[in-house]
Amino acid sequence: MQSSRGNGKFFDFQGSLTLFTFFVSCTFLFGLASCTFKEYKDNPNSNLDLQNIKPWFVSLNEAVIQPACIHCHNGTDPKAPSFLTYEDVMKEVVANHPEKSQFYLALQGVSGTMPKNEGPLPAAAVQMIYNWIQSGASEYGETPPSDPPESLEPNYPSIFKLIISKRCLGCHTGDAKDGGGLDLSTYTSMTTNFLYDSMIVPGEPQKSDLYIMLTLTDPAKRMPQPKGTPALLPEELSAIETWIKNGGSEK
Ligand code: HEC
Ligand code: HEC
Repeated sequence: MQSSRGNGKFFDFQGSLTLFTFFVSCTFLFGLASCTFKEYKDNPNSNLDLQNIKPWFVSLNEAVIQPACIHCHNGTDPKAPSFLTYEDVMKEVVANHPEKSQFYLALQGVSGTMPKNEGPLPAAAVQMIYNWIQSGASEYGETPPSDPPESLEPNYPSIFKLIISKRCLGCHTGDAKDGGGLDLSTYTSMTTNFLYDSMIVPGEPQKSDLYIMLTLTDPAKRMPQPKGTPALLPEELSAIETWIKNGGSEK
């Protein structure tokens, strides 16, 4: 009796263990299955259109932030920082440093997991955000093409436009006393001033007042003034030198 009771007990125990294990596994498997199922079926972010996504803000904004973040990050929840503008988003970004940017870290689960409770972003979107931040986090991809800087030529029109008009006319216009009566605003006024009659000596820069004044070593006397103004650059001086060597003409 005792042994059969013992056997019975043992049997019962094993039975309940099996049953228990069965239930646990079921629950676990079910949970896992429904989780996996949920993640792929209900994650709204798996539908993001990442076809034409580019590593600059306007593109990321359209492809990711608007569909996946803005309904929480629109400035109404005081806890969720606003992402309504580029400047807003940049408060969570350290340009060139994804590893220091909350905007990237939050997606990685390093500090919180965004998008909150809505399924992770596709890896391609996370990678693009990383690339965007690392390459400087610019707002636009293509900066409008600017005119190529005009290059300095050793002739009067170029020298006048790129040097004299910018660095000299503030003092040397008309009979302004600021420039000692020297008017550099036209070729004629520059070369026919009776006070300074050797302004341009054709072929001889070292004898031409214009060149001499620009190359003085004493910064208190060298042009342009006032004292402390940086001297002309070597390439500017050599353009003037070449121009005078070649005759220093108006054309
Ligand atoms: C369902 C709402 C919701 C969505 C969607 C969401 N967030 Fe958030 N987010 C929050 C809230 C709320 C906080 C405030 C902190 C918290 O509660 O975790 C937050 C905080 C943040 C922060 C601040 C840093 C931090 O971790 O505290 C960043 C960065 C962030 N979210 C990025 C994003 C990005 C990027 C997306 C879109 C890909 C996104 N979030 C989508 C609700 C959301
Ligand atoms: C802040 C005012 C100022 C600026 C800018 C300036 N100058 Fe003058 N410049 C003067 C004054 C004042 C004199 C007359 C007194 C002197 O010789 O120092 C003068 C005199 C000259 C003279 C005649 C000197 C002589 O004795 O033969 C030349 C040449 C000259 N400047 C060239 C230039 C050129 C070229 C530039 C531009 C690259 C320039 N200056 C910019 C104030 C200026």
